[in-house]
Amino acid sequence: MNGTVIVYGGSGGIGSAVCRSLTNKGAAVHLVGRTAESLASIAAECNGSYTVGDVLDPELFGRVMDDCEGDLAGVVYGVGTINLGSLRRLQTEDFLNDFKVNAMGAALAVQAAATRLKKNKTGATVVFFPVLPHCRVLPFIVQSAWPRRRSTA
Ligand SMILES: NC(=O)c1ccc[n+]([C@@H]2O[C@H](COP(=O)([O-])OP(=O)(O)OC[C@H]3O[C@@H](n4cnc5c(N)ncnc54)[C@H](OP(=O)(O)O)[C@@H]3O)[C@@H](O)[C@H]2O)c1
Repeated sequence: MNGTVIVYGGSGGIGSAVCRSLTNKGAAVHLVGRTAESLASIAAECNGSYTVGDVLDPELFGRVMDDCEGDLAGVVYGVGTINLGSLRRLQTEDFLNDFKVNAMGAALAVQAAATRLKKNKTGATVVFFPVLPHCRVLPFIVQSAWPRRRSTA
């Protein structure tokens, strides 16, 4: 793997395991999350860097790209919500918040990284760890963030 992998939610259960695994394979990692202390701890363990911020803040994604230096090898989106509330009691704001964290954040993360991912000559990877009930949204995200190449023939 040639370059750095950005891991949103890099201090979480799945994200930190991904960071350790990538580090063991020789890749560099750049972590993103809201809590500086936990990010600093995993980043130090993996010899990586990090950006503190909330995926609900649209300005975060530009800052992540500024903070993450060098070639970009991939983006892992390991941020999400599992809302276990009763469907009848959930409010519009609950649905909107879940959509913003689980789907819009993933789309904005890939959108911000797309140009640099495409520049990676050895190929780049995008991985989502979605909440299962939101799986139907994923094809939409991938399609929007990763448009089909136009045929040059
Ligand atoms: N664990 C499972 O068995 C399982 C199964 C299926 C799907 N998933 C999904 O996989 C994803 C990760 O699971 P996990 O178990 O690793 O969760 P986790 O341990 O709670 O980790 C979540 C990570 O995301 C960060 N985060 C949460 N909200 C954020 C926000 N608004 N902005 C920026 N960062 C945020 C957290 O750090 P801060 O709190 O410091 O921001 C943390 O680093 C979630 O979407 C989960 O729903 C998990």
